[in-house]
Amino acid sequence: MEKLWGGRFQGKSEAWIDDFGASISFDQKMAKEDLTGSLAHVAMLAKCGIIPDSEAAEITAGLKILQEKLALGELEFSTVNEDIHLNIEKLLHEEIGPVAGKLHTARSRNDQVATDMHLYLKQAVAEIIQSLKHLRAVLVQKADAHIETIMPGYTHLQHAQPISFAHHLLAYFGMFSRDLERLEESVKRIDISPLGSAALAGTTFPIDRAYSAELLGFSAVYENSLDGVSDRDFIIEFLSNSSLLMMHLSRFCEELILWTSHEFQFVELTDAFSTGSSIMPQKKNPDMAELIRGKTGRVYGNLFGMLTVLKGLPLAYNKDLQEDKEGMFDTLETVQTSLDIFAGMIETMKVRTDIMEESTQKDFSNATELADYLAKKGVPFREAHEIVGKLVLECTQNGIYLQDVSLSHYQEINPLIEADIYEVLSSKTAVQKRNSYGGTGFEQIKVALANAKKTL
Ligand code: ARG
Repeated sequence: MEKLWGGRFQGKSEAWIDDFGASISFDQKMAKEDLTGSLAHVAMLAKCGIIPDSEAAEITAGLKILQEKLALGELEFSTVNEDIHLNIEKLLHEEIGPVAGKLHTARSRNDQVATDMHLYLKQAVAEIIQSLKHLRAVLVQKADAHIETIMPGYTHLQHAQPISFAHHLLAYFGMFSRDLERLEESVKRIDISPLGSAALAGTTFPIDRAYSAELLGFSAVYENSLDGVSDRDFIIEFLSNSSLLMMHLSRFCEELILWTSHEFQFVELTDAFSTGSSIMPQKKNPDMAELIRGKTGRVYGNLFGMLTVLKGLPLAYNKDLQEDKEGMFDTLETVQTSLDIFAGMIETMKVRTDIMEESTQKDFSNATELADYLAKKGVPFREAHEIVGKLVLECTQNGIYLQDVSLSHYQEINPLIEADIYEVLSSKTAVQKRNSYGGTGFEQIKVALANAKKTL
């Protein structure tokens, strides 16, 4: 079959080499955007008097037929035509004849492919933003139900101080809010039209780039044609934002994996989000959480792949840039499904409030309470720390906890300690009283929740 760019070639092409260069197997995902871009381009050509209105009408009608066929799944693409752009041009030719050849006036595949990528990503990021918003709402809803659920707070994965489960959930709400902000802010750099940059240098035809950009719903045009066809920052930025987002999902997944273990039993995932073992009948594995954690690796990989493709790439278009697609598509799909699966998992998980709270009873996570109690009575904090440290050591040797120490022994240690100490040592009091701004105290959480709800 004749190549659309075959004019200066004499030798025969070889299928296995063509296959290596072809991108149609993956860039057909952008068929819709390619048609949309072509419709705007042809409208601009007519408006600027570059091709007659009658011919523009024929081309437009042909493109619309292709749109319909695409929607019905009736377009057939072939590797012989290399990529989505040449495939569509060929199909248009079959539809309307030689006038199809006028569509590519004042345009190159270089600005065409960049336009398709911008259009595709803009739409897909909008969908990811919706899913992320949903996840934030799910977290707020769960937090609302667990303000007074007490759990151990950890540092170094050791019991540190008791916290409210809502506080833990709202910490992730904060991370996902920043992820949302980053994605929303990045849209303005995706929302730019490269169309009309042509191959690299612009064109001698009297085109109107602002007009085609407006038809495509872009808010701006690239100011420099070389930049327009060479820029993939907007993709790298998306991959980077996705990496951060996946990292946050992955951290929470790691916690879910720990929490569903026999040792913790803090939460139970529903059957739908768990899987069994082919050999061990008792198993209920948190596969989905593990997969999200695992898929974070491939998203990082896509980011590094793209950074590496761009590193050292001279201006303007180079075929290397064709490598921008699979990583972007893969990341979009991975992030989208991970978000949806994760939200579903959180929404339906059963929280074992009893076990969470119980695990703050048989530990020393109230040691800070005792030290603070003494400090409030005038003992320098450093001294109070030493006193409590010694008492913790003594307790561990006797197999008891701070709340089991008798009042008489407390008064021997320091006469400032009175009977109200037992109330102070309870984990609920410890949480309730941490009312410093941003702390885990119930009043603070209520303020944080009210603020969070305002942003939903
Ligand atoms: N399939 C190509 C890509 O994805 C389209 C642009 C081709 N341009 C060129 N000058 N060969 O990058």
